[in-house]
Parts: sequence; structure tokens; C-alpha cells
Amino acid sequence: MNRVFSGIQPTGEMHLGNYLGAVRRWVSEAPIRPDNRSEALYCVVDLHAMTVAYEPAEFADRTRRTAMLLLAAGLDPERCVLFVQSHVSAHTELTWILNCIATYGELRRMTQFKDKGQGQESVSVGLLDYPVLMAADILAYDTTEVPIGDDQRQHLELARDIAIRFNHRFGETLIVPKPTFPEVAARVKDLQNPAAKMSKSANSEAGQILLVDPPSRIAKKIKSAVTDSLAAINYDPINQPGVSNLIEILSAATDQTIEQTTLGLHGQGYGALKSQTADAVVSLIEPLQARLAELEADLGEVGRILASGAVRAQEIADPVMERIRSATGLLPRLP
Ligand code: TYM
Repeated sequence: MNRVFSGIQPTGEMHLGNYLGAVRRWVSEAPIRPDNRSEALYCVVDLHAMTVAYEPAEFADRTRRTAMLLLAAGLDPERCVLFVQSHVSAHTELTWILNCIATYGELRRMTQFKDKGQGQESVSVGLLDYPVLMAADILAYDTTEVPIGDDQRQHLELARDIAIRFNHRFGETLIVPKPTFPEVAARVKDLQNPAAKMSKSANSEAGQILLVDPPSRIAKKIKSAVTDSLAAINYDPINQPGVSNLIEILSAATDQTIEQTTLGLHGQGYGALKSQTADAVVSLIEPLQARLAELEADLGEVGRILASGAVRAQEIADPVMERIRSATGLLPRLP
């Protein structure tokens, strides 16, 4: 059985990195019709977002809005299960069980924990435990494949380690999942600071392209992207990170390889690179914006999709959790 699972934080926004690195493949990897050979689950991970400071009054709206953006991006609720993490209790229950397998040392060494915890006066246990919750998300559904961007690589390695360790201790119980990455644009960079990834939290607005940006703003952001003074279109992420980022974005948006893109731009300047990239991104995003406008007109529909998604997710997780409880020696709940 091929089971795909992935998740996104409920920021209420989606940037080009999320879309090119992950969400676009969520759409293409959902089976035409879920059956007992393949199924895909996509989750808005609200519990993960509670690990850092957040505004409770806006939280539910952001969660709903993120689900809406996923639908606008092309997720079809007939072809996949779209749901909210906190609606399925298996995530937190399995987190506890896996907490007893994961070690403090390995969690403390995680890059994201070090980055997000740095300089904070007080760091929540939740932030330390973030990767274990993520492992639980994946392992609760017998997931075989996890389509993610490059920044989640370390988390996936940990989820695999935890699954292997669990199986070693309790016998073959958990499926060890594999991450999948896109061929290009696995780590889209910030347009203003190409040393950093495009991200919802860290960087300036000018550095990220949001799915809701009007075409003129997209073009403006791309035209003001930081490049270099070498005046040569080469794919060289070390010496020409800004230009290479634009080449990756253009390649991903036009479904071309890096080689095809650079060849196509042979002899042209950064102006041509930027205007082709802007046009390609606008054409990619415009249909999503049209769908978003339709969804915004029917909020009830999103609620119904999430409610039925949670029921299906629970159905899939139930037997897996039963197997895990039995393997770990917990007393069965039913007589
Ligand atoms: P999140 O919400 O930060 O990002 C969602 C997806 O977008 C990818 N991504 C990027 N890809 C390319 N370039 C970028 N600049 C970029 N920024 C983000 C991410 O890699 C991700 O695939 N911890 C996860 C959410 C999560 C999850 C899971 C993912 C929770 N449980 C289980 C997979 C499986 C996160 O914060 O993603």
C-alpha cells in the first residue's frame, strides 16, 4: 500500500517555497481515486504551531485559511484526505508513546530547535518535542512516502530513526517512511537574502512571494530580487545564489530542467531572467487565485471538507494505534 502523508503549519499564508517545495506535489501525488493500493493524507498541523508564541484569537481562522489555500492550490477532497491535526487524537497519543523512544540528546541537537530556541529566555517542552509530534503524524498512518521540502529533511531522518528503534524494541510494528523531494526548488531562497530559505517567519515581505500576491506585486518582488555583479546567467548556488534561485524558480514554474532553462537564457541578461521568471510565476499562480476567490465565497464548504477528512483520518489511524498499543503492552481498551 502506498500511503502519502504530509503537513503544513497554519500560518494562514502560503509562499512560493511551500508550493514549489511541497504542495504542488501533494496535488499531483494524490491518487485519481483512493483505494486499497494508494491514499494520500494532508494535514494542517495546528498542534505544531502551538510550540511557539501565537495569537489564540486568530488561530482558528489561520487554520481554516491554510486549509482553504491548500484547496485553492489544487487539492481535491475526492482524491485525498484533508484534515486538521488536533481533530485526530492519535497524533498526541502516539507522541507520548514515541517520547519514550526518542532521546533528549537527539532532540536537543535538531537544527530547528537550536534556531528557534536561540536567544529565547524560556523554551517550551513542546518546541523540543516538535519532531516527535511530527514523527507521530507520519507513523500513525502507516505512511510510506512524505513529500517535503529540503528544510524538513532532518525531521524525516529522525522519524525514520524513531520508527526503526521502535521496531527493534517492540517487533516489526511501524512502517519506516521515505521522504521525497522535488528535483528543483527543494529549497526556494528568500529573494532579498538568497542565503536564507524563503520563510513565513524569518524574513521580510519583499523576499517572499505569497500565493495571494497580485501579479503586479509578484513582478515587482522578482524584479527587485538580489542578484550579483557578475552579469552572467550561471547555475552556481555558491557563487551566484540569487541568480541560481531565480533559475530554480523559473525551471520549476515552467517544468524545465536547470540545463534547459540556462540554455534558453544563453546570451541574455538578468533583466530577461527576471521578467521570464515573473511571467512564469504569475501564470502558475493566477489559476490558484481564481479558485481561492471561489472558496472564500463558501466558508461552510471548507468546514465540511475538514470534518469528513478528520473522520477518514481517524479510521486509518485507529487500527495502526491498536497495533501500537498491543505491541507496547498497553492493556487493551475493549473487553
Ligand atoms: P512548513 O509549514 O514550514 O512547510 C510546509 C512544506 O513546505 C516546505 N517548504 C519549502 N520548500 C521549499 N523551499 C522553501 N523555502 C520552503 N519552505 C517550506 C516544507 O519543507 C514543507 O514540506 N514541520 C513541518 C510540518 C509538518 C509535517 C509533518 C510535514 C508537521 N508534521 C509531517 C511532513 C510530515 C513544517 O513546519 O512545514
